[in-house]
Amino acid sequence: MPFITFEGLDGAGKSTQIARLAQRLTAQGLHVVCTREPGGTDIGDRLRELLLDPAQTRLAPRTEALLYAASRAQLVAEVIRPALAEGAVVLCDRYVDASLAYQGAGLGLGVEAVAAVNRFATDGLTPDLTFLFDVPVAVSRDRISRDMDKRGPDRIERRSDEYFQRVRTAFLRIAETEPDRVVRLEASRPPEVLEQEIWAHVQNWLSKHDRGAMRE
Ligand SMILES: Nc1ncnc2c1ncn2[C@@H]1O[C@H](COP(=O)(O)OP(=O)(O)O)[C@@H](O)[C@H]1O
Ligand SMILES: [Mg+2]
Repeated sequence: MPFITFEGLDGAGKSTQIARLAQRLTAQGLHVVCTREPGGTDIGDRLRELLLDPAQTRLAPRTEALLYAASRAQLVAEVIRPALAEGAVVLCDRYVDASLAYQGAGLGLGVEAVAAVNRFATDGLTPDLTFLFDVPVAVSRDRISRDMDKRGPDRIERRSDEYFQRVRTAFLRIAETEPDRVVRLEASRPPEVLEQEIWAHVQNWLSKHDRGAMRE
């Protein structure tokens, strides 16, 4: 069954659509495993705390890239590969593309260098399908600020608009380079419209791979 990842800036609508897609797949009788990055495992959650903690002001860019990769390595080994082996559809909120964009492009470490680290971390596990939720940086800021009342911005959210612009541009470049894997979604549109579009792509993938769930 497919390994599907969801990428895009914070507030782009990934969590909303993962929940909706999971519901649809489950209703078709498929086993669905939802997970997220960084985190998704005990070890990954500890790394997530470090990565998002505004008090960690001395984390070097390379350290940041490696900690994300470490969290990902654990998630692949502990959750994603076992779930795929059991025949589950795996829905993952962020994956390697996020590191290429946020650390490779955003922090200027270089997309290819970060890709190499991640090939090692994931042992080469690549998503079958990736949905890139594309929104302007201002839309991302606006949507997350509405949810941020209870807490301040995390370590990554404190970065500049220029940083997030580099991240967005890098995501778009990945979508252009790998059109067979990455579906770019115009994510400023209403949730219902996005849900339909995502569902059409997933159904298409399932039928192309002869894994349609509903066989009456
Ligand atoms: N298509 C959409 N249009 C408008 N608001 C949305 C849309 N999708 C999600 N939202 C809202 O934006 C905020 C962030 O959505 P969320 O799904 O948590 O994004 P992400 O997981 O990408 O950070 C939430 O308040 C959510 O209700
Ligand atoms: Mg989310």
